[in-house]
Amino acid sequence: MASMMISKILERLTNENVGIEWYHGKKILVTGGAGFIGSWLVEALVESGADVYVVDNLWRGSLENLKREDGSDVINLDDHFLYGDLKEFHTASKVCVDVFPDIIFHLADIVAGIDYVFSNEPFLFRVNNRINSNVFTAAREAGIKRLVYLGSACSYPKELQEKPGSVPLVEEQMYPANPESAYGWSKLMGEYEAELLQKYSDMEVGILRLHNVYGPRAIMSKKRSQVIPSLIRKAVLYPNEEFIVWGSGQQARDFVYVGDVIDAILRVPIKGMNKGPIQIGTAKETTIAELASLLVSISGKKINIIYDKDQPEGDGGRSGNFNKAKLLLGWDVFTSLEEGLKHTFDWASNQISKGLVNLDD
Ligand SMILES: NC(=O)c1ccc[n+]([C@@H]2O[C@H](COP(=O)([O-])OP(=O)(O)OC[C@H]3O[C@@H](n4cnc5c(N)ncnc54)[C@H](O)[C@@H]3O)[C@@H](O)[C@H]2O)c1
Repeated sequence: MASMMISKILERLTNENVGIEWYHGKKILVTGGAGFIGSWLVEALVESGADVYVVDNLWRGSLENLKREDGSDVINLDDHFLYGDLKEFHTASKVCVDVFPDIIFHLADIVAGIDYVFSNEPFLFRVNNRINSNVFTAAREAGIKRLVYLGSACSYPKELQEKPGSVPLVEEQMYPANPESAYGWSKLMGEYEAELLQKYSDMEVGILRLHNVYGPRAIMSKKRSQVIPSLIRKAVLYPNEEFIVWGSGQQARDFVYVGDVIDAILRVPIKGMNKGPIQIGTAKETTIAELASLLVSISGKKINIIYDKDQPEGDGGRSGNFNKAKLLLGWDVFTSLEEGLKHTFDWASNQISKGLVNLDD
């Protein structure tokens, strides 16, 4: 049985006559499909009647993500899960030729929290560029007709993200380029190369540019988690782990719920191909201090919040206007931050109490 989140999305897309039946019988490859966003996408595609293959090297993803709540596998793990490292061109090439999908959703990349990103910049830049370039080239050489790439709001120029309170960014503000991190540069190079792919081949290419995505299945480990899952872990474990917020707490982000992101991704092949990058944000900034108090209140605990100003905090603030997504995809923000955080918190407490997640690595 499909999870509640996926059923709700598919019901909405059906009621809106978006054309979700397009997926029925399609053969689809999801790179990074064992990851946070990828695994939800895989479930939604399977529930829409597609034949879905996943390639992932489990750098951050897990096979647990490809199980339903009742323990059944979302895809046949013996022949539809392909363990492979897309840094290697022959892997990307073999998967594209063997599966020969109607469409590739390319999500595999190194994604991690701020500490990991700033401590591993050369590695991250090199690996993401290799993965993206390998997948694009292999897809073109195999003659695949459609590809969707997920870019990141981390790629916006750092001058536009210096402080909170800025006007929501629009797609055109990406250039002249000056991302703050190697991760942001690598994701921008991916967008650029995806656009070249569209221009110089007959492949249709869709690009979403996502703001900060959160929700169930986001990795909660100390080493590689992003801000929301990391603070949720601290709130669930408190007082055994101190509730330390990195930086001043005044830095702000635009947080978008994973269910809303899956809804957007599903619309792209139907309505958003060859339209350039389409930004997915909520047009609202939330400071990390506001986020911390919301999570403390959801936890129901009396928590002492500590701000560690010696730790990095990244860009000062940003949010994304979603007019283009609304116009082209009919996409909207469907889940409030409070509702999304509550779902994520409940999922995380359940996972932690049952010892189902690795909290260290
Ligand atoms: N989570 C966010 O806030 C966010 C925001 C903007 C864009 N994105 C983009 O969305 C996509 C999915 O992100 P996510 O949050 O689900 O991250 P994730 O880390 O959960 O998913 C990425 C997947 O790629 C896999 N992978 C990494 N290196 C690989 C390799 N060499 N070969 C094969 N597989 C490999 C990982 O194991 C993982 O399962 C990424 O491209 C990311 O840049 C995410």
